Amino acid sequence: MSPFSRTSPVSRVTTTMAELVVDAVYLKEIDKARRELRALIANKNCAPIMLRLAWHDAGTYDSKSKTGGPNGSIRTEEEYNHGANIGLKMAIDLCEDVKAKHPKITYADLYQLAGVVAVEITGGPDISFVPGRKDSNACTDEGRLPDANQGFKHLKDVFYRMGLSGKDIVALSGAHTLGRAHLERSGFDGPWTRDPLKFDNSYFVELLKGEQSEGLLKLSTDETLLDVPEFRRYVELYAKDEDAFFRDYAESHKKLSELGFSPTASVTEGTKWIITLKLKLSKHGVAVVAVVVAFSIFNEVRKRMK
Ligand code: HEM
Repeated sequence: MSPFSRTSPVSRVTTTMAELVVDAVYLKEIDKARRELRALIANKNCAPIMLRLAWHDAGTYDSKSKTGGPNGSIRTEEEYNHGANIGLKMAIDLCEDVKAKHPKITYADLYQLAGVVAVEITGGPDISFVPGRKDSNACTDEGRLPDANQGFKHLKDVFYRMGLSGKDIVALSGAHTLGRAHLERSGFDGPWTRDPLKFDNSYFVELLKGEQSEGLLKLSTDETLLDVPEFRRYVELYAKDEDAFFRDYAESHKKLSELGFSPTASVTEGTKWIITLKLKLSKHGVAVVAVVVAFSIFNEVRKRMK
């Protein structure tokens, strides 16, 4: 496509559904949706369930068959009715308000953006967000998400299937710093930490206290992190060093949110960097959008002159 076409696209991705173009207009919509999500999540105190929605959309990924993943399929009736997703329809409906105002944004991007904002707004680390995920209606078979009654072997099976590592398992389990279990949804009850609306390293502190952390929830899949030396060393590290937790969590969360999605295929490295920068510096959003457009035009012209 010509760099001088009306939309000046940064990238063009062909989808099976409507074509998705991540251009300056799309980026602006992402910025606006990010602000809407901040207000929505603050008003409704719904950071935990938004984070869980993002995780459950992404966590179905199978790296061998390249199916599942952060593709918005959790919005299909079949998938949100899976046992593991009980309660998440509420979060899907809340996101619908934002989607109605920004229809260009894919559900896949919207849910992942909601997860990133949920962490940010509760005091957690900034997670870089690259847009461009495509939507799918293909619901994966039930049973791809972890079963809370099992141990480390199961956790490894599930997370390795996604293409994630042992360190990712521990860092991402730290998301249980937020929220609580609900008897009527999962059969478990209660929060993991004393302040379930604050994203910090207290999940690991409480986990190490064992029996002494009275009244707080510990699933088998949480406790098993202490059973395996390769997991335990990260639990101990994160309990004493919150910065290390935040750094690793941000990295693992980004990996989770990009399973099966390769922004580099559609967005050049340089542009991807600028998009990330732009989203981080949303205060200067307009100026950076201009840079993104100028950069892509410059790149295209340079390529043509070679
Ligand atoms: C390691 C395997 C995991 C298991 C077995 C597991 C299981 C569970 C269960 C049983 C609940 C309670 C649901 C309810 O009753 O409402 C829950 C809640 C939650 N999970 Fe996990 N989870 C895992 C990993 C993760 C990951 C990787 C994340 C995010 C990165 C996450 C984020 C959350 C959040 C934020 C909540 C609270 C939801 C709320 O308050 O409504 N979990 N999880």
